[in-house]
Formats: sequence, C-alpha cells, structure tokens
Amino acid sequence: MASTTLSKNFVQAIQNRRTYYKLSKKQILPDSELVKLVKQVVREAPSSFNVQSSRVVILLGNQHNNYWDKIVPDSLRAAAGDSAVEASQGKLEGFKGGYGTILFFEDEKLIKGQQEAFPQYAAGFPLWSEHSTGMAQSYVWVLLEAEGYGCNLQHYGGLTGDALKKVYNLPESYKLQSEMVFGYPEAPAGEKAYHSDHERVIAYGHSA
Ligand SMILES: Cc1cc2nc3c(=O)[nH]c(=O)nc-3n(C[C@H](O)[C@H](O)[C@H](O)COP(=O)(O)O)c2cc1C
Repeated sequence: MASTTLSKNFVQAIQNRRTYYKLSKKQILPDSELVKLVKQVVREAPSSFNVQSSRVVILLGNQHNNYWDKIVPDSLRAAAGDSAVEASQGKLEGFKGGYGTILFFEDEKLIKGQQEAFPQYAAGFPLWSEHSTGMAQSYVWVLLEAEGYGCNLQHYGGLTGDALKKVYNLPESYKLQSEMVFGYPEAPAGEKAYHSDHERVIAYGHSA
C-alpha cells in the first residue's frame, strides 16, 4: 500500500490513466494553463545522459482540426490511396472531435551527437531515445487525465512527419513518435483485462 499522501495520489493518478476515444471539445483548462503544465512535466522527463531529446508540439483549435481532417488524410491518401482514407474516415473524425493533439518528437540530431560523443554506447542511444519519449508521453498522459481530460495515443507519424515539418517549419532532425489526442471524456474507458501482478513483477530475497 502507498504510505504517503504523495505516493497515494501518484498511484491514483496512474490508475486513472486510461485510453478514451469518445472526446469532445468542451474546455477544461485555459490553453495557457494547459501548455504550462505540459511544459512542466516534459521538463522533468528523464533521458539517457540527460540528453533531453524529447520535443513536443501542441496543436489546438484549428491546428488540431487541420491535422485530422487535412494533414493525416492527405498523407494517408498519398501512401495508400482513397480507399485507405475512406476506411479511416470515422476514426479520423473521432480524433478531430477532441480538444487538441500533442505531437511527440525526438530530436535525432541530439541522438547522433550522443553516438559521436560516446561511440562505445552508439547502438544504445536510439533505443534509449525511444524509452525517453515513452517516459515523456506517459508523464503527459497521466497529467492530462489527472486534470480531467481523456486521451488516446495514435501513430500516424510514419506518414505525417514530413508534412508537419513543412507546415510548422520544424527541424529536419525531428522524428515524430506519436500523437496524443485529448479532450473532454464523453464516455468511459473500455473494459481492461490485467495479467496477474505476480506474473509481471517478481521479487527475490528480503531484507532482515
Ligand atoms: C506504445 C503504445 C502504443 C500504442 N499505440 C496505439 C495506437 O496506435 N492506437 C491506439 O488507439 N491506441 C494505442 N495505444 C493504446 C493502447 O492500446 C492502450 O494503452 C492499451 O490497450 C491499454 O489500455 P489503457 O490505455 O486504457 O490502459 C498504444 C499504447 C502504447 C503504450
């Protein structure tokens, strides 16, 4: 059992984090407050050798709408044709129905820099960069849901990364990792099955 108020709240916040698909544009926080909170948690996310390679772009209002009804469908059409867009229409409209989208990038320039500086670990840095983005993503996900939002995580990055760099004049070295759609949760999260804790976490030995 969590023993301090802080750890109880921490566990509670983590237990509250779920995937929500039915989201609306109903406002929860002023945009400036939302952006400030995201900055606060991204700042604290750990990274290998403290490289701080995670980069975040927050799309709100018409920028969020444009991502889901222009950038994604156009990129999807270019890669897989009209039928792929038609098949995804309902899903994309659902994402557009949310309040905003948080784009998570890793700056590969910094990862290459690490590889040059520490060649003995060169093979590890790209992997640890992916670990780092996951940490930043989970901080933001837990944060937003603690504030009352619902979120879901999407991966159109392989298709939309280049278009985003053009539209927002982002550095070439930014690699899109994921898109976190968030908004007012209009329906509860689905049922979730759990593997048993003792299958997933094992402890050996004990202190005196
Ligand atoms: C690394 C990762 C990738 C995921 N990719 C997607 C995705 O592309 N689309 C999606 O709808 N959900 C995605 N999810 C959400 C998972 O399906 C979801 O977290 C999982 O089913 C557990 O449900 P929960 O988030 O409600 O706990 C992803 C989650 C993680 C951690």
